Amino acid sequence: VLKPRVSIVCVVRKSIIVMLGPAGSGKTSLVASLGKWIEKKQLVPVLYVNLDPGAPYTPYAAEVNIREYVKVEDVMAREKLGPNGALIRSIELAREYLPEIVERIGRSPKPYVLVDTPGQMELFLFRDLGVEFVEAMRRVGYIIGVLIFDHLLAARPQDVVSLRLLATIVQLRLGVDVIPVINKSDVSSETRERLSRALSDSSSLLEELKSERGLLGEMSEKVVGVLDEYRFATRVPLVSALTWEGLEELYDMLHEIFCACGDLT
Ligand code: GTP
Repeated sequence: VLKPRVSIVCVVRKSIIVMLGPAGSGKTSLVASLGKWIEKKQLVPVLYVNLDPGAPYTPYAAEVNIREYVKVEDVMAREKLGPNGALIRSIELAREYLPEIVERIGRSPKPYVLVDTPGQMELFLFRDLGVEFVEAMRRVGYIIGVLIFDHLLAARPQDVVSLRLLATIVQLRLGVDVIPVINKSDVSSETRERLSRALSDSSSLLEELKSERGLLGEMSEKVVGVLDEYRFATRVPLVSALTWEGLEELYDMLHEIFCACGDLT
């Protein structure tokens, strides 16, 4: 059933989704599938933006692509750098082109913008590119970060606390709302389901933390309390870029924030 729900209020300013997450978590795949889902189910055109200078192929048609300006392989050859050094250098060089990139995004009539970010999250988050991009994009529309959690990083309860802190760090660093998601739900995994439960429901996480003794266990409990106090508790959808499972729930959460008409807790 088609349910076009994008109101006039939502389309006047662009709705911008920045996809973030550790290497291989599925940023590129989720940009492609969420974009297709929005176009198909909401009948809204989507502008795809690639900010990864190291991604020669993307499964979506990037109308604005950082590789039009900087390509990692060119930087490697020109500056005689290895792959990691060249990526860092490419990110520095990319900053020069931000005004033009933001202007091109602003000129597009498409109301939804999906932004793919570099493989290693720290290159976007802890170098200047991410903050400068987000600051410049505020003129264009409202920005939400979608942070893909890797369930493999959450074997123990205190790992879940560190992932919740990571979402907070992204919020603090970029100054945007962040929706955490767990991708690859088509591959069944106990850890993934446990993580989704522990992230969404602090009481079950606190119960798990009871078995963690000592200072770190105590600190973890306090951290969960602080995060809850500041309403960082949020639903955490299990999604699949492959089967589209969970995309409607993710879209609904995005829509609630974009339209400022909902409560995520
Ligand atoms: P980099 O930018 O290269 O670090 O990766 P990324 O975070 O953009 O991840 P990408 O979309 O390239 O996906 C990494 C791998 O995970 C690929 O082999 C994808 O096919 C696979 N993948 C992504 N999403 C899913 C999913 O929902 N289910 C399954 N089974 N595989 C997925």
